[in-house]
Amino acid sequence: MNIPKKIGVLTSGGDAPGMNAAIRAVVRSCAYHNLECVGVYRGLQGLIEGDFKELDARSVKNIINRGGTFLKSARSEDFRTEAGRKKAFSNLQNENIDALVVIGGDGTFAGASVFIKEFNFPIVGLPGTIDNDINGTDYTIGYDTALNTVVEAIDKIRDTANSHNRLFLVEVMGRDAGDIALNAGIGAGAEEILIPEQNMGRERLLESLGRSKKSGKTSSIVVVSEGDQIGKNIFGLARYIEENLKEYEVRVTVLGHIQRGGSPSCYDRVLASRLGVGAVDALLKGEKNVMIGIVHNKVTSVPFSEAIKGSNEIDEDLIRVADIISI
Ligand code: F6P
Repeated sequence: MNIPKKIGVLTSGGDAPGMNAAIRAVVRSCAYHNLECVGVYRGLQGLIEGDFKELDARSVKNIINRGGTFLKSARSEDFRTEAGRKKAFSNLQNENIDALVVIGGDGTFAGASVFIKEFNFPIVGLPGTIDNDINGTDYTIGYDTALNTVVEAIDKIRDTANSHNRLFLVEVMGRDAGDIALNAGIGAGAEEILIPEQNMGRERLLESLGRSKKSGKTSSIVVVSEGDQIGKNIFGLARYIEENLKEYEVRVTVLGHIQRGGSPSCYDRVLASRLGVGAVDALLKGEKNVMIGIVHNKVTSVPFSEAIKGSNEIDEDLIRVADIISI
């Protein structure tokens, strides 16, 4: 078993609050174990371009509370090419980096898996994405903060919705996963939550909104996941509702990238710190080609192939709770 002496760390794909806390944990864990640590700027693209910087315990001071990623992030097209990956490998060799921690989502892990197969290079991943769409971990780094951001925004929207007796359609991120929509929708007291895992359809939505009005509700919030059929054309849906339910005045808010920014919640900071330490521990145990996640509040590892399986399972109990409490 080859124990690494110099570990590289990078963030890749969409940024997520808590990525800085994860980098910090990796860097400090390296310092704790007397390993060298190198930051790779701009993710997998920076690996190809040799954008490296030595990091020590003090290089990561004052970042646990900061959103974004100080190492920057990118979605690299070049890393999809063999030539790009060869260049990345040769840069790692020149720099004497003998293992990597990559923080990102399924695209990052898929790229890392190919690289490991080609070069037998040890890589361990950390799930960093607001979408919570990775298997083998109950939560991804950034998800909790994004939920809180969404709930805070919807609380504000509720004030104005209520003042004007309006219906608001609020589009949230999540790519093909409805986790943000479902949990933030429950937390914010939404009347309806539209998620890709459960295609409600426009007709049933109309029926439900009609019932809502009859039950005495004066304003409504409908949370729409961007991956839902309806989420693709939220403005079209607003027009459709106004045409079919004349009693409703509809407004649309697309929350967009504010969901990715901001200071990480305490939960995300702790999660990122635990997983960052777990990543270095895993490399020291000779593990590679795995993602470190959290399952039933225990740090654990799963092969990348499991993590990126791509089938997001939504919690049916949560759907039931949302249905009951929105009556
Ligand atoms: O994966 C995180 C995420 O924010 C998704 O929720 C969203 O679909 C996507 O990234 C947006 O990507 P970009 O920032 O490249 O537009």
